[in-house]
Amino acid sequence: MLFNSPISAQKADQVIGLLGVLPTACVLDVGCGSGEFLVRVVEKTGAKGLGLDIQPGLIAMARKTASGRVPHAALEWRESAIMEAMLEDNGFDLAICMGSTHAFGAGDAAYPNAIRELSRLVRPGGRLLIGETYWKQPPAQEYLEMIGDPAGTYRDHAANISFAEERGLRALYAVTSNEDEWDHFEWSHQLELDQKRRQNPDDPALTEKLKRSRAWRDGYLRWGRTTMGFGMYLFQKQ
Ligand SMILES: C[S@@+](CC[C@H](N)C(=O)[O-])C[C@H]1O[C@@H](n2cnc3c(N)ncnc32)[C@H](O)[C@@H]1O
Repeated sequence: MLFNSPISAQKADQVIGLLGVLPTACVLDVGCGSGEFLVRVVEKTGAKGLGLDIQPGLIAMARKTASGRVPHAALEWRESAIMEAMLEDNGFDLAICMGSTHAFGAGDAAYPNAIRELSRLVRPGGRLLIGETYWKQPPAQEYLEMIGDPAGTYRDHAANISFAEERGLRALYAVTSNEDEWDHFEWSHQLELDQKRRQNPDDPALTEKLKRSRAWRDGYLRWGRTTMGFGMYLFQKQ
């Protein structure tokens, strides 16, 4: 999968084209995963970048992708939790956090903490690009029990924007994932696991993972598809 978020390459490029990043800019990506989003930003703009993730395997993948596609870019990939990264205030022109606000805190602390911390890390006039879940409609209790998230973790789309604006950010642009993007995201996970399982039919951990993934898929089909949304929000720090 290109991204571990329900976004297509086309949607990512559409948003990257609107970021207003200059070649002199310094871009942070928190929870960068395998680095695809930040590599695309750097390919398109020539900016400098720092990608952070706690998973060493993903940071290794990001390094490999970057060395193949933008070998001369000033890009750093760091295996670190964001709250331990000791980054300077106002040090970035753009901070990205795509599907990773939980890096800043669990449950209902995630988005508020992400807004606060990313605002601190970006210079005045700089920008934040946040990919965040939202409720398309109030979630069914059974769905909440299945995903293990309390209802208060997420807001609706409008409230994701107003929450940030009430904390001094200016919303510049917002776009949401469509059903194709969601279906591709959810079914790709399932497909990857199915393939791994076929190659390793006797691995008990994989069997258990696949069982959990099928339960998740059923919940997605029954409730998630009409209930859970994903928005990309571009904000400016005043
Ligand atoms: C849903 S994935 C999104 C990855 C990537 N942004 C993308 O869209 O493809 C969330 C990522 O956040 C990372 N993460 C979780 N907690 C973190 C933390 N405390 N600090 C940095 N990264 C973290 C995970 O390892 C994972 O790669």
